[in-house]
Amino acid sequence: MEKGKLICIEGLDKSGKTTQSHLLVEALRSLGFDAVYTTEPSGGEIGRFIERYVLRRRRRISASIEALLFAADRIDHFEREIKPMLEKGKIVVSDRYVYSSFAYQGAAGLDIEWIKEVNRMVPAPDLAIYIDVPLEVVIERCRGKRRSVMEFPDIQAKVQEIYMHLVREGKLIPVNGNRPINEVSKDIRRIVFERLGI
Ligand code: TYD
Repeated sequence: MEKGKLICIEGLDKSGKTTQSHLLVEALRSLGFDAVYTTEPSGGEIGRFIERYVLRRRRRISASIEALLFAADRIDHFEREIKPMLEKGKIVVSDRYVYSSFAYQGAAGLDIEWIKEVNRMVPAPDLAIYIDVPLEVVIERCRGKRRSVMEFPDIQAKVQEIYMHLVREGKLIPVNGNRPINEVSKDIRRIVFERLGI
């Protein structure tokens, strides 16, 4: 059985991670790799429930409920989509993965060890990239747009702090995201080829 690779792209809301995830998939495909884009929350039933029950409401629900729902969606996403694709030897690029839960639900005050525990049923990715954009830039990009409960500046600051801690621990590889799109994507491609040896 061939074994694929799981890459996740992390970052604050409006950091450019969705654009960069798609560009990475395109670049890999143009080189002949079988790459696929996927995202969390997933498009499955639990993911769709999260959109409605967690993200679209005015006030945040309890962080522990959020963490358990995101973990449940992640297990579902992994078993239903990611695992079968990895078994076919594909390169799966996931726009958010476990580190989003560490950062966002950790920022809401939860013990990160507990968040790790409830996410233990899915494997770590082969590579995790963090798109690093200064807080002011992200806040400016969120201005005037309809905000989700996760996008308030004080929350984003704490989320960034946890992401940076994960970078210092070596769990996430940082990329300077405050540059033109094609420069950021070039860096991401370089990291992917270097680290995964593909
Ligand atoms: P996302 O779809 O990436 O937002 P956008 O594309 O609009 O920038 O993510 C939706 C929100 O869900 C985002 O604010 C972060 C949050 N989230 C968590 O809080 N925990 C998680 O585990 C995940 C996957 C996302």
